[in-house]
Amino acid sequence: MKTVSGFSKMSKSAKIEWLASQFEGKTTNGILDIKRFWNGDENEQKRFDEFAENTLTNYYLPFGVAPNFLINGKNYTVPMVIEESSVVAAASLGAKFWLERGGFKSKVLSTRKVGQVHFLWQGEKRNLARFFEKVRPTIIEALTPLTENMKKRGGGISAFTLVDRTEELENYWQLKMEFETCDAMGANFINSVLEETARQFQSEMALSDLSESEKFSEIIMCILSNFTPDCSVEVSVECPIEDLGEFSGGMDARTFARRFKAAVDIATIDKSRAVTHNKGIMNGVDAVVLATGNDFRATEACAHAFASEGGQYKSLSSCKITNDTFHFSLRLPLALGTVGGLTNLHPLAKISLEILNNPSAEELMQIAGAVGLAQNFGAVRSLVTTGIQKGHMKLHLLNILTQLGADNKQKEEAQDYFSDKVVSYSAVRQLLQSQNSSMLQD
Ligand code: MEV
Repeated sequence: MKTVSGFSKMSKSAKIEWLASQFEGKTTNGILDIKRFWNGDENEQKRFDEFAENTLTNYYLPFGVAPNFLINGKNYTVPMVIEESSVVAAASLGAKFWLERGGFKSKVLSTRKVGQVHFLWQGEKRNLARFFEKVRPTIIEALTPLTENMKKRGGGISAFTLVDRTEELENYWQLKMEFETCDAMGANFINSVLEETARQFQSEMALSDLSESEKFSEIIMCILSNFTPDCSVEVSVECPIEDLGEFSGGMDARTFARRFKAAVDIATIDKSRAVTHNKGIMNGVDAVVLATGNDFRATEACAHAFASEGGQYKSLSSCKITNDTFHFSLRLPLALGTVGGLTNLHPLAKISLEILNNPSAEELMQIAGAVGLAQNFGAVRSLVTTGIQKGHMKLHLLNILTQLGADNKQKEEAQDYFSDKVVSYSAVRQLLQSQNSSMLQD
């Protein structure tokens, strides 16, 4: 591959042609073909082009819905964007199962977000602390042009402190700010406030009565923290054990509850299992986060840091059996927004929010949490009963058939054929071969 300069300035077509020219003569060169995925409406396409630098085309993912989510007595059909075949099915099954058993109870524990100005400073600690106390109100006042709108909406800066980290790293201090950002995820708001805070802090310092050598602080960076343990939601389901019903293979409710709890307990003490267990939760959460135009990388990074609080990576969900009642719950940090960012710009994010009746950010946190718990329930339920592959491979069957070039008729026949058989790549290939050879004989 050749290097290129001025790439970002080229037109979209020129970028695609340049890229294709790097593969000239290769039979696998389908690069020019990516234009097929452009939106037919030029204006609509322009909107996507503008989301990110060097956009060449659009990358499709399935957009589906999981109906029957009863959350705090309200019924939702939840939009989900995900490519993994069994995720929407598992969420829908989990939703239906709990719909018949009282639904999900969900509550937002708090919505506080944090940002930090990281800086280096050398001098007498007491002097810095005294200086900070003195200038704190002045700085907050100076931030008014940035914060007044958020304040009017009920949010803004809720705390502003100086943090001494010099024991861990020489001369390292933080200005720590806490925020309420209402229905916005708030990343841009927080980062703008932090950068202005750093400017004000340095100029107040230059004018202060600190000694000449103490009047200088080196700002290393200003950035929100995606670790939001105080912006979190708790979701739970419960029912008498006998109401759990009977499971595949005739497994009774008590055996199921015992095995289910054992599986969750294993994910609480074993890191290798916990990561996969939590991945199952995030299958559901991320699908909602993506559908609503929220930042799934932030959600993921935070969830896993939260799962490691206390020094050991653990399950985010927990299961209890008390007085013949089965309880299953999840606590998850989730910094989501329903205004601002991509939520308003991406047409499908907007439609997702409409499907959810335009929820507040707190309501969306509760919905995403419930989908995470439903997903986790569905996965662990399969694992401790039939095993995961039965359902997964049934749903994956269509992908295998497409990969092997099956036509619609063959797909229908294969779905019938595998309704009571184990699906595997080689079994599907064998079936297609026999279908093709009997077609030739006909
Ligand atoms: C697959 O995407 C997710 C699961 O592995 C989750 C789990 O094991 O709990 C099925």
